[in-house]
Amino acid sequence: MYKTNLKIEIIPRSLKIRIKRNSTNFMIFEIDLSTLIYSDQLIQLTLLMNSSLIYGLGEQQANLLRNNKWNKITLFSSDQAPEEQKNLYGVQPFYMVMENDGYSHGIMFLNSNAMEFIIQPYPAITFRSIGGIIDFFLFTGPSPPDVIRQATHFIGRPFMVPYWSLGFHLSRFGYNTLDSMNQTLNRNLALDIPIDVHWSDIDAMEASKDFTYDKKRFRLLPDYIKYLRSLGMRYISIIDAAIMYSPSPSQSVLDDSGYLPFTQGVSSDIFIKNAYNKLFVGRVWPGLTVWPDFFNPSVLKYWGDQFERFETQDEIVLDGVWLDMNEPANFVDGSIVGCDSKNLLNYPPYPMSVNGRNLNYRTICMDSRHNISTHYNLHSLYGLQQSKITHEAIMQRLNVGKRPFIITRSNYLGLGQYAGHWSGDVWSTYQDMALTIPSMINYNLYGIPMTGSDICGFNGNTTSELCTRWHQLGAFYPFSRNHNTDDSYDQDPAAFLNSFPDLVSSTRTIFKIRYSMLPYLYTLFYLANSRGDTVIRALFFEFPIDVNTYSNDKQFLWGSCLMITPVLDRNTFAVKAYFPGGFGNWYDFYNGTNANNLRFGGTKFLEKNYMVLDAPLTKINLHVKAGCIMPLQEPALNTHLSLKNPYWLLIALNKLGEAEGVLYIDDGETLDHTVSPSSLGPYDMLHFKARNQTLRSWILKFDYLPVPNEESSLLISNVTLMGIPRKPKLVQFDSAENIIKRSSYRLDFTYNPLTQVLYIDKVTIVMKYAFVMHWIY
Ligand code: NOJ
Repeated sequence: MYKTNLKIEIIPRSLKIRIKRNSTNFMIFEIDLSTLIYSDQLIQLTLLMNSSLIYGLGEQQANLLRNNKWNKITLFSSDQAPEEQKNLYGVQPFYMVMENDGYSHGIMFLNSNAMEFIIQPYPAITFRSIGGIIDFFLFTGPSPPDVIRQATHFIGRPFMVPYWSLGFHLSRFGYNTLDSMNQTLNRNLALDIPIDVHWSDIDAMEASKDFTYDKKRFRLLPDYIKYLRSLGMRYISIIDAAIMYSPSPSQSVLDDSGYLPFTQGVSSDIFIKNAYNKLFVGRVWPGLTVWPDFFNPSVLKYWGDQFERFETQDEIVLDGVWLDMNEPANFVDGSIVGCDSKNLLNYPPYPMSVNGRNLNYRTICMDSRHNISTHYNLHSLYGLQQSKITHEAIMQRLNVGKRPFIITRSNYLGLGQYAGHWSGDVWSTYQDMALTIPSMINYNLYGIPMTGSDICGFNGNTTSELCTRWHQLGAFYPFSRNHNTDDSYDQDPAAFLNSFPDLVSSTRTIFKIRYSMLPYLYTLFYLANSRGDTVIRALFFEFPIDVNTYSNDKQFLWGSCLMITPVLDRNTFAVKAYFPGGFGNWYDFYNGTNANNLRFGGTKFLEKNYMVLDAPLTKINLHVKAGCIMPLQEPALNTHLSLKNPYWLLIALNKLGEAEGVLYIDDGETLDHTVSPSSLGPYDMLHFKARNQTLRSWILKFDYLPVPNEESSLLISNVTLMGIPRKPKLVQFDSAENIIKRSSYRLDFTYNPLTQVLYIDKVTIVMKYAFVMHWIY
């Protein structure tokens, strides 16, 4: 906290302390210490506030703006399919408050025990935890992006994603055979649906055991992985937290014939123990199971060995790891013989309700033991710690020099450094689809920008229309994966070819658009990694003084430049959109028309910057902000191919005729952690700026070329300018690559007077050199 921003008032003759913002005198909170409870198994603290505009506190399925009507939010990681008011897989004790003037602050309670927040109408918030200490942090912003930057500076900036992970991911639980997995992939590729990653779930394992694959039903899996690579694609497999309990018949843990992930865990003594110091045994997919203690210093080697053996002996080479069931989830309450009822860890004095049950419900007993403490204290950190160890194990053992890619279900503050998160077992309903938007925004608030939800929903059967709309929305999830449960109909795009061809064409179109925008998205990830910017933004992150944006969670932004307005309801072909900053601030992505000049289609202007947009079944509305330059690239069937294509610049001029943007490029996968924990290797950083009918590029850094010494391996082939009021007489290009051979020539262009868009699409600009382009009236 920056002291000078705040003033601290101690109210005389009371135990009250008030924290105010210096510049505005806004009261951030007041604590009355006489109401504080501070005991071994109960801590309670109430902050009186001056604003009810509260965001965050996860993981819950809810609207973005938290309801303050005595809203009790329990935070304790649970294997609970998303349902409103329930505590879900992750724990994020962090919230942001909008003050009354566009300023904002964030508050973080660094406590790992089961906890509750009660948001009250006063406005006030009560924090209650059944253990630990009071360790809370205030981030004073003042803007929402500042709050998030300050928070991620403290808990850790998000990891840099590999480029391929921004492609489309295809997955399902229940392929059941490699043939069906392969057919599913091929039928989608045949329809020209871009895909980068194919995933397999527990059905590809032998009897659901981690680090195995079924040598009958998935016999050729190692070859299949090679086949994927030959297409430029990747493979990811699930790894569950629990390891099958399988003592060998001889009961000797040194007997190598048993299930090695178990026997090696026993011999290195890294499994969680019960209160009597014996293996803690529960039950998950493979039957009886134990759990690695990811807090044990020996676990890193053990865990790395499992990946290494899977890779060297089974030839299962993973490009990424999917960590599931790590709340940790259990199919019985506690161990197979339950939990000791006569102790204060399993049954604490304050009986915190976890979705209406006690703490031990479908997880491991609270009195079980990790190397450093009891499960009571560590439960909600398990997924974070597993992700951290997996991240390190991969860096050390697998892809040396490459960025680990991990997606986890359970999570805690700071996870973003190691992994991304998907929102778990959402239902195939419009309601669940709509609530994936606040989920995604919240995870950006928590510093975990690599996030998304199962496209078309996981539980239940989707419908063709829902799945069409969900692919449109999901094309704008940072983590964009279609995943399905084992007892639902197929929902990969090609499954709809005969019954609903519109889904196929809409999905192909929208994913081509996503792929064309990946350079922009990747740059956003770089800015998240390097300075804590968000990738997905709520409208209010960018327009904090506009109160109309405060509860908007039906629209969202990619960075500051792209606004996405999906259809979230059935049988709906028009959508009400809000245009922050006014209509003139936005251009239609598809035809380049400024939203102020929309003369086409049945567009209906409403009051106060609202407009009804046409949204036929095959379209999602996208708008580009005036003042932005978005770097794009010609799409292809996967990122390995698209990265070879030339770049495009999409320029949306503001009222002053100005725009700017940046582009980050590297090889998409290098991580040289031997240099520093996050050294990305050589890269290029370009800055583009349009002003006074001139576009200029600046080369901030240029260390990387895809093909060494081939300058032409990074080209711009297309420049589109939106907001050009009349047809220019000429467009002229200057490149100052060297003073002696300075080139200047006229460029071909076309101009559309209706949309006021200028297309310069026959250029070949070598990005390595700074250039200048003029359009002259
Ligand atoms: C639960 C996960 O949330 C889901 O995505 C997965 O398919 C199943 N476990 C089976 O592994």
